[in-house]
Amino acid sequence: MSPLTQRLTPNSADLKHAADLLRQGALVSFPTETVYGLGADARQGEAVAGIYKAKGRPSFNPLIIHLADTAAAKNYVEWSDSAETLAQAFWPGPLTLVLPLRADHDLSPLVTAGLPTVAVRVPAHPTAQALLTHFTGPVAAPSANPSGRISPTTADHVIAGLEGRIAAVVDDGQCTVGLESTIIGFDNGTPVLLRAGGLPTEEIETVLGQSLAHPQNTKITAPGQLTSHYAPRGAVRLNATAAHDGELMLGFGKVSGILTLSADGDLTEAAANLFGHLHQLDAMGGAIAVAPIPMQGLGCAINDRLNRAAAPRG
Ligand code: TXA
Ligand code: MG
Repeated sequence: MSPLTQRLTPNSADLKHAADLLRQGALVSFPTETVYGLGADARQGEAVAGIYKAKGRPSFNPLIIHLADTAAAKNYVEWSDSAETLAQAFWPGPLTLVLPLRADHDLSPLVTAGLPTVAVRVPAHPTAQALLTHFTGPVAAPSANPSGRISPTTADHVIAGLEGRIAAVVDDGQCTVGLESTIIGFDNGTPVLLRAGGLPTEEIETVLGQSLAHPQNTKITAPGQLTSHYAPRGAVRLNATAAHDGELMLGFGKVSGILTLSADGDLTEAAANLFGHLHQLDAMGGAIAVAPIPMQGLGCAINDRLNRAAAPRG
C-alpha cells in the first residue's frame, strides 16, 4: 500500500475504485450524515484488524457494520418487531441497532469483539449509500479518528488524524448531522439507549410508544463508551458563561465565543458544528471553555460528547 492516503471524489469512477480497495482489504474513509467512517470489509479479519491498528483502538471495542438497506441488515441479525418499527421510521438515518448476531453470519469475530450481538446501521448519506451499493457487502466502520480524539466531520479532519495510515478518503464535504448515530440495544425486548447521538431519543420514544431504558439498569452495555473520549489536547471546562484567562470560549446562544456553536441557540446547527469547532479550537492550542447547552433533543448527545471531552484523561 502506498504510504500516501488518496483523496477521492464522490463520482462513480472513484466510488468504484473505493469499493475495489475495500475488496482488496484496504481501509477507506467515507462520509456519512453523522461523521466520517473508517471502513473495512467486515468479513476480512486482517482488514478489520487494520482499523484497530490505524486508530490505535483498544481491541475489546466492537464495531458497527454499515449496509445499504434493511434487507441487507437482516442477513446479519435476528430481526424483531421493535427493530422493524425503528427501521421503518428512521432508516436510512443516524440510528444504530444492536441485535443478536445470526448463526449463519460471515463476519470476522473482530467486528463483534466476541459478543453474541452486532451493531447494524443503514446510513442516509448519498455517498455512503453509493459506496455500499457498489461494494455490496458489510462495511465495518468506526469514526475515522485516532482512538480517543475528536470525531471527524470533514475529510481534512480524517487526513489530519490518519494520513498515511489508510488507503483513501472519499471527500464529500462536511457531515450534516455532526454527531455519531444514536445506538439502541434490547434487554429481553426492552429498548435501551446505549449511546445518545444524532437521532434525538424523544423521537425514538414517540415511535416506540415507550421510554428507553438506560444501560446501568440493564444487563447490556456499549463497550466503546469509555469515559474520556473525543478529547482535544487542552483542558475543557463546561457550563461556562465567560472565558477565564488563557481559555478559548466556545459559545452557544447568548454566550458568544471565539467560535459559537449556534448564535440562535439552534441545537441541530450546534450538533453539526460541534466537532469541527472543537478541532479548530484544538488547533489554536490552550484550554477551552464551553457555554451551557440545554439537555433536550440533540442537546443530550452534545452534552454527552462534551462531558467526555472534559473528563479526566486515562
Ligand atoms: O455515526 C456513527 O455511528 C459512526 C459512523 C461512522 O457510522 N460510527 C461510530 O462508530 O460512531 P464507533 O466505532 O466510533 O462507535 C461504535 C459504538 C461503540 O460505542 C461500541 O461500543 C458500540 O457502538 N457497539 C458496537 N457493537 C456493539 C455491540 N454488539 N453491543 C453494544 N455496543 C456495541
Ligand atoms: Mg468514535
